Amino acid sequence: MKTEHAPTIRRIDYQPLAWTVQSVDLHFTLDAKATVVRNRMHCERRGAGPLVLMAEGLTRVSLTVDGVEVVETALRETDTGLEIDLGERDTALVEVVTQINPSANTELSGLYHSGGGLYTQCEAEGFRRITCFPDRPDVMARFTVTLEADMAAFPVLLSNGNLVDSGDLDGGRHFAIWEDPFPKPSYLFALVAGDLEVLERTEKTRSGREVLLQVWVEDGNLDRADHAMDSLVHSMRWDEKTFGLELDLDRYMIVAVSDFNMGAMENKGLNIFNAKFVLAKPDTATDVDYEHIESVVAHEYFHNWTGNRVTCQDWFQLTLKEGLTVFRDQQFSADMLAAAGGESARAVKRIEDVRVLRTAQFPEDAGPMAHPIRPDQYQAIDNFYTATVYEKGAEVIRMLHTLLGAEGFRNGMDLYFSYHDGQAVTCDDFVEAMSEANGVDLDQFMRWYSQRGTPRLLAEGRYDAAARQYTLTLTQQRPDGDEALHMPVALGLIGPDGADLPLMLAGDTAASPTTRVVELKDTTTTLVFEGVAAEPVPSLLRGFSAPVILELAEDDRRLAFRMAHDSDPFNRWDAAQRFMVRVVLAMTVDAAKGVLPQVPDAFITAFGALLHNEKLDAAYRAVALTLPAEAYLLEQMTPADPVALRRALIVLMRSIGERLGDSWLGLDARLSVAGEYRYHPTDAGRRALRNLGQRYLCAAGVAKGVERALARATGDAHMTDRFGALAALVHSPASAEAATALADFERRFAKDALVMDKWFAIQAGAWRWIDSAEPALARIEALMSHPAFSLSNPNKIYALFGAYFRANPAEFHRADGAGYRFWADRIRDLNKRNPQVASRMARVLENWRRFTPAQQALAREQIEALVGEKDLSPDVREVLEKALGKTD
Ligand code: TRP
Ligand code: ZN
Repeated sequence: MKTEHAPTIRRIDYQPLAWTVQSVDLHFTLDAKATVVRNRMHCERRGAGPLVLMAEGLTRVSLTVDGVEVVETALRETDTGLEIDLGERDTALVEVVTQINPSANTELSGLYHSGGGLYTQCEAEGFRRITCFPDRPDVMARFTVTLEADMAAFPVLLSNGNLVDSGDLDGGRHFAIWEDPFPKPSYLFALVAGDLEVLERTEKTRSGREVLLQVWVEDGNLDRADHAMDSLVHSMRWDEKTFGLELDLDRYMIVAVSDFNMGAMENKGLNIFNAKFVLAKPDTATDVDYEHIESVVAHEYFHNWTGNRVTCQDWFQLTLKEGLTVFRDQQFSADMLAAAGGESARAVKRIEDVRVLRTAQFPEDAGPMAHPIRPDQYQAIDNFYTATVYEKGAEVIRMLHTLLGAEGFRNGMDLYFSYHDGQAVTCDDFVEAMSEANGVDLDQFMRWYSQRGTPRLLAEGRYDAAARQYTLTLTQQRPDGDEALHMPVALGLIGPDGADLPLMLAGDTAASPTTRVVELKDTTTTLVFEGVAAEPVPSLLRGFSAPVILELAEDDRRLAFRMAHDSDPFNRWDAAQRFMVRVVLAMTVDAAKGVLPQVPDAFITAFGALLHNEKLDAAYRAVALTLPAEAYLLEQMTPADPVALRRALIVLMRSIGERLGDSWLGLDARLSVAGEYRYHPTDAGRRALRNLGQRYLCAAGVAKGVERALARATGDAHMTDRFGALAALVHSPASAEAATALADFERRFAKDALVMDKWFAIQAGAWRWIDSAEPALARIEALMSHPAFSLSNPNKIYALFGAYFRANPAEFHRADGAGYRFWADRIRDLNKRNPQVASRMARVLENWRRFTPAQQALAREQIEALVGEKDLSPDVREVLEKALGKTD
């Protein structure tokens, strides 16, 4: 029923439906190949018009209204489902029976089969693949769900809410009845049926209610569920303490599944997770995995209030729940880190979040898929679960937090819930609550919701020694020439001795503390600081107080000075990044000309000073000494030349390893963590810095470093050390040692799908350190027939293909175009299996116009060939047509 050329859906066309569903009884007769769904909807009229039901790929068995079969004349089939003319009625009991085949559902949307079990994924529009329903977030119904299945094949039967009855049936079958007390949109419906094991804990909520927490996993994984459970308990406590928000159900379940399109899903009371964000034990998961699990568990848990209790009116409002919930999970992780590792650990989290924004969202916002955090139109909604909606959306919420303060923000949240609990609302409703609770006008702030593109902030400072004045001019530049934004800019001035100066603006009666938040509302703002005794060094946009690109002319000396002295840990890191970007880009220019790039001494000196600064925590030094991502560097190059960039980076990494080799080797021993593995930010920081040192040492081929890495990669280390060592060897000229370590890793983990994902990804992302090394593409093609690889598992696709397309630009953008041909073949194949995954992979070439003319021609050829094919899914078509500039 879905057409190939999806029509464009526009935000301004929003209309409430004529009919809503008050309550719904679902009865599932579950079977892997033929599941029968009986759906009874108690419908209520809200306006004039027919009952609109969405349906996709369903076999309809029967359809009745108030017990009578619907006559053909009252029924209209549409592109998205059907419409039923219900005459003069104001209420109706509509019953529809459908049959579906979960085993044939390779899209992993709706009800599907994975590892012997049955699972659902309904956001955004998967429920219509289960039954006919007004599948929109503004239709909130009370759900009662009966599950019936074979007891041996599906011993566990789960759905949303509370279990109200269960028991045995004839013929080796059994049933369970679940009732969700809260009305919810259909995208939050879930069911799970399978042979699963459970980790349980009971906790008391702040108000003293006892709740049952469960983590369900596939057989044999029970020893990997503890960290997810701990994370869930920490999330509960944090939301109670920070926002006064409690768990509202008696039971809360997390289920891990191996085949899943995204990270996880916040279905009411029954979160379903990609196993990768649940399962962890020291032997199989790295510190980074532990960190991600904690934040994804928190994210889905926080959705219970920001997303479920208050949901979105329509999908254009997606950032209402996603931006806000990402902000909440970022704050949670930062607080957790700070509680264990101090304020420096908090800064590391902020740095990591901004790194994600800059490498994923900035390029998106500069390319053909650029959209405001609240888009005005789309073809496939699945394409709009983007870095912009999520990460930039979170930055917009963070700016409100900065402008209003923690207390003001909390008051706004309280008011938001008091007005809108149980409703489906808009981003305007949220900002209005913030505005009303604080008596602050946020009309101009709303522009953040409608402007796309990353704004630039141009800064210029002038010191007048005679007047002891420092004048700072800040100018906003918006990409589409839009109206001025309301943005908070946190700033400080650093004196010649490296200490922050007290800040006194004209009109102030006393100097204020050393960081100050200035609110920009105009295109140009001029700030005059008084009583400035010597020329200061400005430190702008501290903590990355707004999602903009800061442009300020700073020479190497000044960057080195801020690397050494900026009191704001984020800006200190940023100074190092800016220095690195400058050095790498200059080296790339030489590499492109065929000249051997040189690393400036001043850079090694500043870099070494950070490395040797024992006052800085290891975790902080690890992020500060990590080179910017290639994607971020390519973004700053016109045309982007990944091959030359790679050559420059190899020289730079070698040089850091050679020239600071003794320091890295000495540090390695000093940083070793004694005792058993525990996930703790201080330990993790030490491991991160040690693994980084190993990368530089191996890159330079320092014999002692390579030897140590091989011992660690093949010894009995936990996964953080083992994988750190393996990565260092694979990214080095020591190809024999790398091969030994890869083979050892494969032997140990051949049966462990999640660990093998790491093994696939590291090879797909491998750089070529010596000319004789095998090109990544040849390796990837061979790995496609590895027994652990599977084209039907999204994690495998992201590991082997995603890592190649995204994390290995120099190999993907090969001069002969073989990378692009391989890409097109993968899209063709994935498009048939799983459009959501295909579309995410298709996006890796959306910025093809940024590359050299020769590469552009090769890429265009492949994109045009794909667009010319007629059985392209709407998801993939939208991405490719936008890439070619065919639609807006
Ligand atoms: N709402 C989910 C989250 O942010 C993500 C999500 C959206 C999703 N669509 C999905 C997950 C499809 C899996 C499949 O947590
Ligand atoms: Zn989310």
